[in-house]
Amino acid sequence: MHKKISRWVKDKQQGVKRALVTAYDYPTARFAAAAGMHGVLVGDSLGMVVCGDHDTLNVTLEQMCYHTRMVRRGAGGCLVFADLPFGTYEKSPEQAWESAGELLRAGADVIKLEGGAEMAATVAFCTERGINICAHIGLTPQRVRQWGSFQRQGNTDAEAQRLHHEAAALSTAGARFVVMEAVPDQVAARISRAIDAVTIGIGAGPDTDAQVLVAHDVLGLEAESPPFARRYLEAGNLQQKAFVQYVQDVVSGNFPPRRPH
Ligand code: KIV
Repeated sequence: MHKKISRWVKDKQQGVKRALVTAYDYPTARFAAAAGMHGVLVGDSLGMVVCGDHDTLNVTLEQMCYHTRMVRRGAGGCLVFADLPFGTYEKSPEQAWESAGELLRAGADVIKLEGGAEMAATVAFCTERGINICAHIGLTPQRVRQWGSFQRQGNTDAEAQRLHHEAAALSTAGARFVVMEAVPDQVAARISRAIDAVTIGIGAGPDTDAQVLVAHDVLGLEAESPPFARRYLEAGNLQQKAFVQYVQDVVSGNFPPRRPH
């Protein structure tokens, strides 16, 4: 097993928590690494927070590789996760393996894909051929056009059981990590205790092995954030103020200053 991943597994066994944040570019990856972040995720959420789309479905593999290269350059010793975008892996294990290879060559250490038990064969195929896979269950944003909205998952006993079954199937198939998004806290806790894979929660309570947040939420760059996110900064407001001041300075002649001849 990858030396860095075996540290994550050891930490799971010892109850030591780990933190990840999304990163889409070199400076964010550099700040994350310098902050002691354990992992950075080049998420296809970039379709929304960087490109301004309503969902993640327009993101291409080429875009993901482009951003993964930038993040790799800044990520130092952080484990770099990268998302397989919609339409690049669901058809067959072979398709997933080929797309994952592109992300590996761009610098990713771990490849993330969305889906439950139906993806177990793909996870096994990729794992057996040397690719570390992170599965993603619960609210899987690539299904949003099927569901009609971003929906919390696992609210009934039957749904909770289905999630548990999916997580177990993916872990048994070889997934090293399982992201659980927008899942009830107790369901995520139970799954985390039950499976070998390292669980990464987002809106899944405090009892997953690791947490991930979207950088734009942590930094306050989005107008609104989901209720489970914590905004550690209002960088959007600061950026707006800086731009306003710059415009005023140019218009008023305060910038640039006159230089002596
Ligand atoms: O794309 C992304 O940023 C993600 C996280 C929200 C887990 O998948």
